[in-house]
Amino acid sequence: VPMHLPWIDAINALKKQRGAVIMAHSYQSPEIFHGVADITGDSLGLAQAAADCDADLIVVCGVHFMAESAKILAPGKTVLIPDLEAGCSLASSITAADVLALRAQHPGVPVVSYANTSAAVKAESDVICTSANAVQVVESLGVPRVIFLPDEFLGRHVAGQTQVELVLWHGRCEVHEKFTAQQARHAREQFDAKLVAHPECSPEVLAEADFVGSTTAMGKWLEREKPARVAMITECSMADNLRAQFPTTQFIKPCNLCPHMQRITLQNIYTCLRDLQHAIEIPADVSARARAALQRMLAVGR
Ligand code: 13P
Ligand code: SF4
Repeated sequence: VPMHLPWIDAINALKKQRGAVIMAHSYQSPEIFHGVADITGDSLGLAQAAADCDADLIVVCGVHFMAESAKILAPGKTVLIPDLEAGCSLASSITAADVLALRAQHPGVPVVSYANTSAAVKAESDVICTSANAVQVVESLGVPRVIFLPDEFLGRHVAGQTQVELVLWHGRCEVHEKFTAQQARHAREQFDAKLVAHPECSPEVLAEADFVGSTTAMGKWLEREKPARVAMITECSMADNLRAQFPTTQFIKPCNLCPHMQRITLQNIYTCLRDLQHAIEIPADVSARARAALQRMLAVGR
């Protein structure tokens, strides 16, 4: 971290001067997460924070769909992302036209979309969910069947916890689909580690886990259980960020990084604040319809 200090100081000074708020997702690197962020959290936490935010300028350190959600929920504010190319394999697995085709195939069946989707897909959805509230959102509709997209693995995990029948899509997180059940068993057997996993992992991996939850829920589980050794089966910046908070816990790695999350750096956060780039813009009609779906999610809560 010492080599990062000049950047951290420069960003924090510029942030104050601009009256900006910096939000960072759990998968941002420690120098961003601990060094410059005002608000940190899972994707639900960041969406809630954007809706409640007082500042006129928000910098989202995360991927594009997270910055879009912030802009949709705070349409009057300037929302910046340091790198517009920070995408997500789930968000790019489905288009608005795909959602319309699914609706035509399943007339009258409501659409629940994961937050990891484009604004255009959200606009064609009835309600949004994240991994922190997917079961509650699905059940809030009070219907026997919903279209749940785009994450097939999250969908299968949710289907195991509700009577509601889910029509699934074939999206995958390119980071979480790489973990194997064998890696999980190895961490437990060789290191006597507890296993905590994100629900974007395959069902075989989730079957091995002691706890499955959103990035914030995984952190809360560690607070409660304080295990001696844990393997965080998720993007590995998460363990890097938690290490400072849990000095007595040993973090065992299987490690996969999200290349999209890693696009955000101290350097491009600095230029983002200096040049006020890159601002998220969403067509008004798309934004209004996506907002309705996101607000339905926020009404359900966590
Ligand atoms: P969370 O909603 O748990 O923060 O997850 C978002 C994400 O992109 C996980 O890969
Ligand atoms: Fe998308 Fe996976 Fe990266 Fe999360 S970790 S932003 S789901 S590609």
